[in-house]
Amino acid sequence: MPNRIMPSILSADFANLQRDIEAIPGADAVHVDVMDNHFVPNLTLGLPVVQSIRRATDKFLDIHLMIEDPDVWAPGFAEAGAESVTFHAEAAKAPVRLARELRARDARVGLALKPATPIEPYADLLPEIDMVLIMTVEPGFGGQKFLDLTLPKIERTRALIGRTEADIWLQVDGGISTETIERAAGAGADSFVAGSSVFSADDPDAMVTALRTAADG
Ligand code: DX5
Ligand code: ZN
Repeated sequence: MPNRIMPSILSADFANLQRDIEAIPGADAVHVDVMDNHFVPNLTLGLPVVQSIRRATDKFLDIHLMIEDPDVWAPGFAEAGAESVTFHAEAAKAPVRLARELRARDARVGLALKPATPIEPYADLLPEIDMVLIMTVEPGFGGQKFLDLTLPKIERTRALIGRTEADIWLQVDGGISTETIERAAGAGADSFVAGSSVFSADDPDAMVTALRTAADG
């Protein structure tokens, strides 16, 4: 299965999102970080901006909700046309019901885990979801250092996914560079979110290519 490079626009210029998205034609998706200053201590953007991004690009939209009450808010992002909507396991009140509501709106379903949240309590949920997002930093901010302590969990999640027949992606998010992506890929990740490494590069699309080359090993 091919690796996916999914740049996070958290490190793009919010006044020039269309320009910055067009600067990464080689990317497999655009990753959008929605934060509410409750689930994480930061505030970014919400549904109206995602609706505008949807009109501005045909790229696969990968929404990462770092918010309380995803049960209330997540379906709206699927209705806005996002191909994938990820909510946090720590925040969802009824993850099975929410996952089914998202699939009913034709979105892939992502389940995100903070660095200290284990995958094992959620193993029985795998048939209901399409992606596991393992946070490789504490969520909330770009530019943090990759946490190697997440590597065993990536390996364990890959093993659990391997026992299913389903097309479940294994995404990592936080501190991904041409160096750390090799370790994440080696542990079993196949989908890579990168914010600061892509958008602080002189040539963001060349960095997407470099990340892909490093992930493919
Ligand atoms: C952090 C966000 C990430 C962030 C990653 O909470 O979920 O998507 O943009 O940024 P970098 O790649 O700079 O760690
Ligand atoms: Zn993210």
